[in-house]
Amino acid sequence: MALLKILEVPNPLLKKKSEPVKEITDQLRKTLDDMLETMYAAPGVGLAAPQVGLLKRMVVIDVTRDDEPKKPYKMINPVITAHSEETTVHDEGCLSVPEQYAPVERFETVTVEYTDENGTKQTLNADGLLAICIQHELEHLEGTLFIDHLSKVKRDMIVRRVEKERRWKNSHSEEE
Ligand code: NI
Repeated sequence: MALLKILEVPNPLLKKKSEPVKEITDQLRKTLDDMLETMYAAPGVGLAAPQVGLLKRMVVIDVTRDDEPKKPYKMINPVITAHSEETTVHDEGCLSVPEQYAPVERFETVTVEYTDENGTKQTLNADGLLAICIQHELEHLEGTLFIDHLSKVKRDMIVRRVEKERRWKNSHSEEE
């Protein structure tokens, strides 16, 4: 397995729509494992393929806490087929928008259909953090980030902060 490079805003690839996966190959399974390893190392609870520069419709998710057994999901061509009327507002973050958090409104529960890494169709009814994470990750496949739910002023401010932080880190790593 290998750690992949996570793209950060304002990388234009994050704004692109991803293509459906047509065939599940060993290479694809390896990429999903690498995505999961990258997500755990970050650490994060979800990662979508476009975040590692791959415009394919697949995401990995694991919302369990450190003291719980791991429960990873690898979802290929996921689609939300039903959702609750009720919504919930939660502070969200994103590995492509490091260390920035803002409240986003999401459906409280969702049903997601996807193909797993063995080619088996799966249906999952999710609530709580898992439901929020599924909605967040699937939006990445449309080129939408959680900051796109915020006002332009707020969004621009967050992107500027990320760029500033990255410049600071880069200049300091050169000094070492
Ligand atoms: Ni994200």
